[in-house]
Amino acid sequence: MTRGFVHSPSPTRVVFGAGTVAAVAEEVRRVGGSRVLLLARPRHAERVAAALGELVVAQFDGARMHTPVEVTAQALDVLKSAAADCVVAVGGGSTTGLAKALAARTGVPQVILPTTYAGSEVTAVLGETENGRKTTRRSPDVLPETVIYDVDLTLGLPVPTTVTSGINALAHAVEALYSPEANPQVDAVALQAIRGIAHSLPLVAANPSDVDARAELLESAWLAGTCLSVSMGLHHKLCHLLGGQFDLPHAETHTVVLPQVMAYMEKEAPEALARVAQVLDVPDAAAAVFDLVTSLGGPTSLRELGLAESSLDGIEPASVLRAAWEGRRPEGAPDLSVLTAQVIGSFDDTPDPRLKRLLTDLVRHLHHFAVHNDLTEQEWLFAIDFLTRTGQISDDKRKEFVLLSDTLGVSSIVDALTNSRSPLTTPSAVLGPFYVEGPPAMEHGADISGGLDGEPLWVSTAIVDVDGAPVPGAVVDVWQANKDGFYDVQLPDLDGPVLRARFVTDDQGRLTFWTTLPKEYPVPEDGPVGQMLGGTNRHPYRAPHVHFMIMAPGHHTLVTQLFVQGGRYLDSDTVFGVKDGLIVDFPVAEGTPPAGREVTGGWRRLDYTFRIGR
Ligand code: BEZ
Ligand code: FE
Repeated sequence: MTRGFVHSPSPTRVVFGAGTVAAVAEEVRRVGGSRVLLLARPRHAERVAAALGELVVAQFDGARMHTPVEVTAQALDVLKSAAADCVVAVGGGSTTGLAKALAARTGVPQVILPTTYAGSEVTAVLGETENGRKTTRRSPDVLPETVIYDVDLTLGLPVPTTVTSGINALAHAVEALYSPEANPQVDAVALQAIRGIAHSLPLVAANPSDVDARAELLESAWLAGTCLSVSMGLHHKLCHLLGGQFDLPHAETHTVVLPQVMAYMEKEAPEALARVAQVLDVPDAAAAVFDLVTSLGGPTSLRELGLAESSLDGIEPASVLRAAWEGRRPEGAPDLSVLTAQVIGSFDDTPDPRLKRLLTDLVRHLHHFAVHNDLTEQEWLFAIDFLTRTGQISDDKRKEFVLLSDTLGVSSIVDALTNSRSPLTTPSAVLGPFYVEGPPAMEHGADISGGLDGEPLWVSTAIVDVDGAPVPGAVVDVWQANKDGFYDVQLPDLDGPVLRARFVTDDQGRLTFWTTLPKEYPVPEDGPVGQMLGGTNRHPYRAPHVHFMIMAPGHHTLVTQLFVQGGRYLDSDTVFGVKDGLIVDFPVAEGTPPAGREVTGGWRRLDYTFRIGR
């Protein structure tokens, strides 16, 4: 399905590096600022104030989580009385939120220096609380003009905050992957962010002053923040709700809720979650994120954040909230790669390298198939029973396994890989289940229809090699269905083989015979293959054709079919056997019928030259 999307790149200027604080004065001037209100915690204020010099006209350090409107009112007073024309915010999501709230009210340009990984600095979203209720709005007015990422500002961020803030960033990227507004650019950015956060977060937790790891984390958090340009899903809804109603800490709540929502989304958005699992190189993304949080010492339950269990009553989806409250590890699919490796290892001593390769790859694909589809025992037992019945219905005439291979397209794949590799030779086509070894030998010009009704067809063919030289003495087996679409082996009243024969080409590499025009026909439907076709709403028909098997010493055997041009089902042959080069005109013929045949009514002819290779 074609995915439509709207993409509107953010105009925010981003300056990234180590020591980039030094650029803050220049960036303020670039946005037209000359009188700065500095929003900063004391920890960072000094450093930034020094870099701004006399541009600073006022400072405010009262930012609070969830941006309460009364705090914004205080800051607004400071801004106005100092006649500031620019805000510089240094801090986490709360400080950035305050800068945005001021911009929303006054239009002042913002220069933001993030010290955490929240990502709010690159979004046009402002969340505010008034009387305990959180509201969010999205407006280009609140989008900061410039963001300066200075990895040095993040080096002192305590590990617990680093962890929860990093998981908060991870949540943006994860939710972007299943957002209805996602686009290929956001997908790519989200996956890169997920990879980077998962890689760097444990390194930073182990060594908080590892500048390279901090830089990777900050870079990834920026990428994750840009994913907030698309709408967020269940995770963000739940976190906002919990944060607003119960005043739970923002990043901690994200950290607890994310793995639980991911487990839930494995059913709702399996492809997105599979992509997360793939970049994390884990079997189950939700369980892996839970394990990541646990290993980094982060919170895993709403209970430990101080929430009463009864608070959750009536909030949906209850199963997610219950699991989040308890801090239950998402079950996920068990990691079965060890088992796969064991089975593959059991083939280590296989003497035949081809056998080893085929068995190894078969096991790998079968295991992947089972795991990928969360195969149930019932489904697998059905499959075994299906294959058992396929064997039971088969005998030397009824070849249900061949038919299964044909209707699943495997025969045509193997045929294409084995044969048909040269454009100089006639294309091959599947053998099918109706070939019978050792057909009756016939003379040129003979009638192979055994007197069965049908429109008479005169076949005149030549066999040549790739240079166009005739191939005399080639053994050519021919078989086909009758005018009703049946092969002789399907007609119990027939005595002996009909509509099948063996010829040997003459000195000119030619052979001729009479037969009847073949019709389209259904493959046998009374067995397991018919059940598969019925269960998938597929028709069982093959386009009308005549089979040929051409065997000549020193040449590759050619197994092929000629299809009647204008016949039915040419474009939906149920065994995927039709190739353009094999669709041939079987025209209505004029004149005296050859080989002394008496014909009442019309007759047709098929003239064709097969090219075979060495
Ligand atoms: C056939 O052409 O005879 C045939 C080929 C594949 C499946 C069934 C029939
Ligand atoms: Fe056939």
